[in-house]
Amino acid sequence: METITVGLDTRSYPIYIGNEINYGPLVSKALPKIKDLMVVTNETVAPLYLQRLQKELEAEGFNVKSCILKDGESYKTVESWWQILTALMENAYGRDSAIIALGGGVVGDMAGFAASAYQRGIPFVQIPTTLLAMVDSSVGGKTAINHPLGKNMIGAFYQPKAVIASLDCLKTLPEKELTAGLGEVVKTAIIYDRAFYDFLTQNIQKVFSDDLDTLHTIVKKCCEVKSSVVSEDEKEHGLRAILNYGHTFGHAIEAHLGFGTWLHGEAVGLGMVIASALSLKRGLISKDDFDSMKDLCKKAKLPVSIPECMSGDDFIKHMRHDKKVRHGIIRYVLPTAIGSVKIFSDVDDAEVVALVNSLKAE
Ligand SMILES: NC(=O)c1ccc[n+]([C@@H]2O[C@H](COP(=O)([O-])OP(=O)(O)OC[C@H]3O[C@@H](n4cnc5c(N)ncnc54)[C@H](O)[C@@H]3O)[C@@H](O)[C@H]2O)c1
Repeated sequence: METITVGLDTRSYPIYIGNEINYGPLVSKALPKIKDLMVVTNETVAPLYLQRLQKELEAEGFNVKSCILKDGESYKTVESWWQILTALMENAYGRDSAIIALGGGVVGDMAGFAASAYQRGIPFVQIPTTLLAMVDSSVGGKTAINHPLGKNMIGAFYQPKAVIASLDCLKTLPEKELTAGLGEVVKTAIIYDRAFYDFLTQNIQKVFSDDLDTLHTIVKKCCEVKSSVVSEDEKEHGLRAILNYGHTFGHAIEAHLGFGTWLHGEAVGLGMVIASALSLKRGLISKDDFDSMKDLCKKAKLPVSIPECMSGDDFIKHMRHDKKVRHGIIRYVLPTAIGSVKIFSDVDDAEVVALVNSLKAE
């Protein structure tokens, strides 16, 4: 088992990565003063992993209850969040209780936000069960629910006490969800790490046969990069914004097609292809680098073509509503080489419209 530390002074925490991990002792270590645990999960994950987790936690002497939510992004709502808080109150859980988030990013984000709010904050542990949650959402302390007027609009920065990624959970994950996770994996390599990028070009397809060594390397590398970025800039005042590579265009695609039509990671995949095309047009990267990045997205089975129904103006319209827009200026994270990106605020709308239209005409 591997341990990576997210360094945040008194709020530092470990990320454990391994196979068939016994969760009990690690939760015990992370929550030494806690007796009552509420496992938050969903209707899909509960039949797969809840019983095992419950047994391992009870073996450590914890009192364990569970709260099973409906599955899906469309249930990342105030009602589901309220359901968690109600479960805590119905069981008379006090400040010596904690939440365990067992599931993908949807469960993790909601459970974390409930932990941040219940009795002004109780501890929580992330047990991610999707690739996306292992490589991205369980680390870094962003928690949230959606509002009908915007995704992840209500939430808090609230760090877990530990993250425990047991790779065997990925065996039951549908291929489409693996692909969505790979969107964030490819992103991590492009923004930060050329050697990791080279590893992916050779090995990314092995993810689809659940190759444990490949999965271990991928989860470890992504957690190292994310924890180093978060340690430096927890609340996204600067550096952390590079993690949004591919997301500005990606969110526009999700919003235009209707959230849930494409998975988030798929939209990020195409978002990266568009952003790298913008880099190429601006002379920031070579044609070889652009082709290589697009090819890696294809190997990850990510979409690389703009949907027929989306114009350049559609992108601008949605990107103007993104919560990351500052003073009306859209900030673009663009690669300047494989393994490095910069943030640009000087891209005008016409440049983006022309780019999107030229990509569609290809
Ligand atoms: N907090 C952050 O920093 C951050 C970062 C990226 C994304 N997110 C959020 O994460 C969410 C997406 O997360 P996701 O991609 O994990 O989606 P998800 O949580 O919806 O999980 C995807 C699907 O896989 C199922 N599932 C989970 N584990 C499984 C397993 N082991 N076997 C079989 N099925 C399993 C789920 O029930 C769901 O149907 C979005 O809401 C996004 O906003 C948050």
